[in-house]
Amino acid sequence: MENKISVLVIDDEKNFTEEIHELLQNKGYTSFVANTARQGLNILKAQEIDLLILDIRLPGVNGLDVLKDVKEIYPNLEVIIVSAHGDMESVIRAMRLGALDYLRKPFRHVDFQIAIERTHKFLDLNRKLQVMEEKNSLISEALGAKIERDFIGGSKKIQDILALAMTASEFPDTNVLITGESGTGKENIARIIHYASSRKDNLFCAVNSSAITESLLESEFFGHKKGSFTGAINDKKGFFEVTDKGTLFLDEIADMPFNLQAKILRAIEEKKITRVGETEQIKVNFRVIAATNHNIDQLVSEKKFRLDLVHRLNTLHIHIPPLRERTEDIEPLLNHFVSMFSVRMNKPNLKIDKNVVGTLKKYHFPGNVRELKNMTERAVILCKENILTPQDFPVKTAGSSTDGMGNELLTMQDQEVKLLRQALKDNAYNQKAAAETLGITRDSLIRRLKKYNIKIKKDD
Ligand SMILES: Nc1ncnc2c1ncn2[C@@H]1O[C@H](COP(=O)(O)OP(=O)(O)OP(=O)(O)O)[C@@H](O)[C@H]1O
Ligand SMILES: [Mg+2]
Repeated sequence: MENKISVLVIDDEKNFTEEIHELLQNKGYTSFVANTARQGLNILKAQEIDLLILDIRLPGVNGLDVLKDVKEIYPNLEVIIVSAHGDMESVIRAMRLGALDYLRKPFRHVDFQIAIERTHKFLDLNRKLQVMEEKNSLISEALGAKIERDFIGGSKKIQDILALAMTASEFPDTNVLITGESGTGKENIARIIHYASSRKDNLFCAVNSSAITESLLESEFFGHKKGSFTGAINDKKGFFEVTDKGTLFLDEIADMPFNLQAKILRAIEEKKITRVGETEQIKVNFRVIAATNHNIDQLVSEKKFRLDLVHRLNTLHIHIPPLRERTEDIEPLLNHFVSMFSVRMNKPNLKIDKNVVGTLKKYHFPGNVRELKNMTERAVILCKENILTPQDFPVKTAGSSTDGMGNELLTMQDQEVKLLRQALKDNAYNQKAAAETLGITRDSLIRRLKKYNIKIKKDD
């Protein structure tokens, strides 16, 4: 075992304390002896003691009271109590007050040794656990700092978002709703909040309910009892239980089935859940950060999302605007990704042509930061010289839609949008006529206009 422990013995019988003192010293332990409770308490004040061996039948005081006081002041101190033969009731009460073990008087040396060694092992394990917890905490902190450092953006919008994320981290029981288009960094912000909060040493449990089969959703969230349905071969904890003092990140909440939303709401409100097939309630401790790239108000009005759940989730609401609305972030993001990928691809000293940022600023980035990141990765891989030029970033910008070699670069969607707009314009915004021109039904036209958010009015 690693560290030798120091032991204090409190007993009014001098013969007894002397005997134990000798045994402990022979084993190499540091040992202190007191014959009254007062003496003992003074030693506890002055010395670092790991283990107390306490007689619960001391003259003038109740040993159990001493135990209670001592455990209150020194919660990490382990106690072995010494009791008279047949005093089982006191033993039970002492154990309830937090004693680790007991010895009956008179005892054999071998029993004493066993008890001491067992306690020593226990203390060693506890110490190791404490060291691990401290390390874990440092790692979480470093990880959190890294995620935050790697979240780039000089724009006022991003600075405000980071400030709001810091506020959210200071209130670890407040739910947060993060909205924003795909690829704007919602999950990043959720992690920043988690790792800056007091929950950082516990799990960040990211759940995307649209990735889970609907029939399994309830058991995935709430857990189940063995045999509660076909396939439930073992008891299983759900996400709420697994999260255990951590953060539950509900990604793409808009995809959560309506009937499950009510159950999720109840779990959030009551902080208690019941496993599928079980009747007993289990207390759970989690904070929810939810994210969606949908317009939640619209979903509520379409009765696809519960208003009461929205109210529960958006105590704090963080909206991340699309990249095209904060073009000043493009340059620092580009620099960040170029240095990241040039290290990875082993292309050091890669330069960026001064026209690249200008080209990118004109692009509308439907995939936001993720798109810029992927685009930069590709550019770094493919670029021939030691410099990245606009040609390495084949983006289609509002005016010129070329890939740098004069070829039009439109996606299928872009082409469809262009066709739809043209047909509307050509037919003076008459939907029926436009649909006929395109050879599709009017319903189909309307569906497509909705899909691409194309206004039907002339002043579009
Ligand atoms: N401000 C930023 N600085 C650095 N990297 C960022 C930033 N914003 C987003 N990213 C990166 O862009 C990618 C997409 O971010 P993230 O997964 O957080 O987006 P999201 O909003 O959750 O998207 P989706 O709605 O598609 O799930 C990630 O690789 C992330 O690291
Ligand atoms: Mg995401």
